[in-house]
Amino acid sequence: MFADVVVDLQYGDCGKGKVAHALCNENDYTHVIRYNGGCNAGHTIYHNGKKFVTHHIPCGVFYGIKSIIGPGCVVHVDSFLEEIQELEDAGIPARSLVKIASNAHLITDFHRAEDSKDSEIGTTKRGNGPAYRDKYYRKGVRASFDPRLQHFIISMYHELYENEEFEEIKILFEGAQGFGLDPDWGDYPYVTSSHCTVGSAVLNGVPTSCIRDVWGVAKIYETYVGAKKFEGDDEIFQEIRELGSEYGATTGRERQVNWMDFDLLKMGLRINGVNKLVINKMDILEQLDVWCLYDGPNLYEFECREDIELWIFAKIESEISGDVEIMFSGDKERI
Ligand code: IMP
Ligand code: MG
Repeated sequence: MFADVVVDLQYGDCGKGKVAHALCNENDYTHVIRYNGGCNAGHTIYHNGKKFVTHHIPCGVFYGIKSIIGPGCVVHVDSFLEEIQELEDAGIPARSLVKIASNAHLITDFHRAEDSKDSEIGTTKRGNGPAYRDKYYRKGVRASFDPRLQHFIISMYHELYENEEFEEIKILFEGAQGFGLDPDWGDYPYVTSSHCTVGSAVLNGVPTSCIRDVWGVAKIYETYVGAKKFEGDDEIFQEIRELGSEYGATTGRERQVNWMDFDLLKMGLRINGVNKLVINKMDILEQLDVWCLYDGPNLYEFECREDIELWIFAKIESEISGDVEIMFSGDKERI
C-alpha cells in the first residue's frame, strides 16, 4: 500500500482540487480519500472543460476512481445526496464510485442551525464545529446510522485491508481547508474544527510507513475567509481579489487578501514533511507585475517573477531542505 497526500499550506483555496485532479490523471490510484472536514469545503475542479464545485466528494469521481469520505470527515446527508445527484446529472457516475466510511460522523440540521448563529469566527455555517464537538463529546452520530446512506457505507478497515478486489492499494488523500486553519497550528480560535495536516490523513486508517509523496499546495499570495481582519491596507489586494476570483466557492464571500507569509509556509512545509510544493496563481501577480512577500515582519518587494522564485528556492533549500521539489504554476497550467 502507498499513499500520496495533498495538504493546503495556507488558509484553504490554494488549488488542492487542481493538484489532486492532475495527480489522478498521472497515477493509477485505486482510491481517493477525503480525510477531514465536511461541506464547509468547496473544491473547484475543471474537468473536460466544465467547472464543478464539490463539497464532500473527493475528486476521484472524475476519473472513475473509488472515492471515499473518510472517518475523519463529517457529512450532511441532504447536501451530500444533492451533490451526488448534480454529478450524476452531469454524467459522472458518483452513485457507484462514492463511498462513506461507516465511522464518519453526521452533521445534523440541529448542528447547522447552531452554526448559523456564529458571528465570532466567520464560519461557513455548514454545521462543522458543532458536529465535531459532538463527535469528541461522544454525543455524535456515525454515518452508518442514517438509513439514507446505506448504499454508500463501507467499512474502511475492510476496504483497505481485507479487500481482494485490489492487488495493491494506491491512495490519494485529499485534504480540505488548510494548515493555517488547523485547530492546533492555526490562529486559534480563527480555525476550523478538523485537522488539516498530513497527520490527519494518517488518522483515516493507514500506517505512516505507506506515505509516499506529500504535496503541499500554496498560493503566491494569501487569502483567508472569516471574521478576523486579515487583508493588508494596500489597494492592490482589491485588484488581486478581482483578478484571482477570490470569492468563496461555498459561501460566495469575499476572501481577504494579503502577501505570502513565508514563516507560515515554512512551518507548513516542515510540520507536514512536504516533498513536493506547488505555488499557484503566479499568473495573477504576473498580470499586475507586483511581487511581494513577508519574511517575518519584513515585507520584501521583488523586481520580477524570476527574482521571487529564486528567493523562495534559495530560502527553502537553506532553511528546510534541498529535497523539496518546487513548482510554480498559473491557473491555466496543469502544475
Ligand atoms: P468552519 O470550518 O465552517 O467552522 O469555519 C471556520 C473557519 O474556516 C472560517 O474562517 C471559514 O471561513 C474557514 N473555512 C472553512 N472551510 C474553508 C474552506 O474550504 N476554504 C477556506 N476557508 C474555509
Ligand atoms: Mg475551497
